[in-house]
Amino acid sequence: MIAINNLSMSYPLEAGSLEVLSGVNMRIADGETVAIVGPSGSGKTTLLILLAGLEAPAAGSIAIDGEDITGLDADALADLRRDKLGIVFQSFHLVPSLTALGNVSLPIEIAGGNDARERARRLLERVGLAERAQHYPSQLSGGEQQRVAIARALAHSPNVLLADEPTGNLDLKTGAKIIEMLFELNAETGSTMVLVTHDTEIARRCQRVFYLDDGKLVEDSQHAVPA
Ligand SMILES: Nc1ncnc2c1ncn2[C@@H]1O[C@H](COP(=O)(O)OP(=O)(O)O)[C@@H](O)[C@H]1O
Ligand SMILES: [Mg+2]
Repeated sequence: MIAINNLSMSYPLEAGSLEVLSGVNMRIADGETVAIVGPSGSGKTTLLILLAGLEAPAAGSIAIDGEDITGLDADALADLRRDKLGIVFQSFHLVPSLTALGNVSLPIEIAGGNDARERARRLLERVGLAERAQHYPSQLSGGEQQRVAIARALAHSPNVLLADEPTGNLDLKTGAKIIEMLFELNAETGSTMVLVTHDTEIARRCQRVFYLDDGKLVEDSQHAVPA
């Protein structure tokens, strides 16, 4: 489902450039759950941003569902995200002017799906927020906002779910509940999941665990689940 070949990324700085990822290789099968862990600043978010086609790499390639995304233009990348990707960020990123229901309906509507409102309503129910459907993000707690964000990310049944420290802004108890929900919903939809986390306990729940250190990616085979 995802094939990353020799991926490098650097950001321009006044004094030269900062290499953030170098020679990253990774193959992820359809339906696999993969965790990426590593210290702050090791390039985890950068890797997800590249996977989402939100920035172009300095070198190397990324194929999603057999399609090389590194040569695509902005329109084609937007199509890719609409059709195949769901993304959950650390800081929720809900549309403030839309209700919970509106936020979850949005990707279904954009993808031209039928019954957007009805499907969104079912998903909100699924994440335990049926009673909050008409609330705006500012009227929801952090945990509730993240539940809306997860429902939104899965609303259009993406092939790939990308999650960047989805519990990073939540207290431990709320975070644990959100993680339960994420794994449960992901198992139901069968999406391939790439989960960035600094929590090794959460990482262990994924089938494979990769460590990112100083821009280099290594798989921790001790945590790999036998096929
Ligand atoms: N847009 C940017 N411009 C310059 N440097 C950046 C930019 N984004 C991230 N960085 C730097 O790249 C490194 C990796 O960042 P990031 O991918 O966010 O790491 P992580 O998510 O693992 O904490 C950090 O040193 C960060 O300061
Ligand atoms: Mg990050």
